[in-house]
Amino acid sequence: MSEENFEEKRRRMVGEQIKARGITDTSVLAAMEKVPRHEFVPDKIRSHAYNDEPLSIGEGQTISQPYIVAYMTEALELDDEKKILEIGTGSGYQTAVLAEIVKDVFSVEIIENLSRRSRDIHAELGYKNIHYKIGDGSYGWKEFAPFDAIIVTAAPHITPLPLREQLSIGGKLIVPVGDMFQDLVCIVKNKNGFTEKKLISVRFVPLVSPH
Ligand SMILES: C[S@@+](CC[C@H](N)C(=O)[O-])C[C@H]1O[C@@H](n2cnc3c(N)ncnc32)[C@H](O)[C@@H]1O
Repeated sequence: MSEENFEEKRRRMVGEQIKARGITDTSVLAAMEKVPRHEFVPDKIRSHAYNDEPLSIGEGQTISQPYIVAYMTEALELDDEKKILEIGTGSGYQTAVLAEIVKDVFSVEIIENLSRRSRDIHAELGYKNIHYKIGDGSYGWKEFAPFDAIIVTAAPHITPLPLREQLSIGGKLIVPVGDMFQDLVCIVKNKNGFTEKKLISVRFVPLVSPH
């Protein structure tokens, strides 16, 4: 498939799957229209890259459905001054969408191969504001905390405490919490503690804990 065909598919994805479902943040829409999602999936399923579904990326992991990527990104209320922590680099697609919008993305992935693969794709595409760590994202990334926003793209049973702690005041954490089916939860840190709100039901792979 030619680059033009992919571009056309991407435009249609944004129109039919994302705008049509109520996403209005122009920075999110622009990022989703720009990032070549087909570069982040295995070659043999490139033609499915813009489908309205999650896809397998190997290692038993998935690239999230485009709408969910857009929904979570919009919910974080980002801008080009923000520093964000992502837990679960996976294919690196969500990472690239974030990198289009914010100043710096710090992304933690537990599977070494996936982290290395996404780093190569990002380098090829010219991203310079993404920082990678291989390890258990439950601990966050303390050296670079606090973060203006944290996005978790694998589901814990309960939200890991270090992630709450590594939010700045006013910072937002979006995390799918639960077992097979999860609630996407938005946690905001304020001076007196945290507020917490359930957004939508979602289905993510589990946040694995090696300990
Ligand atoms: C649904 S995938 C992420 C999809 C990704 N956002 C994308 O756009 O492709 C979830 C990822 O979280 C990773 N993961 C699971 N448990 C983790 C942990 N404790 N720390 C860091 N990453 C973890 C998985 O290996 C997987 O790559």
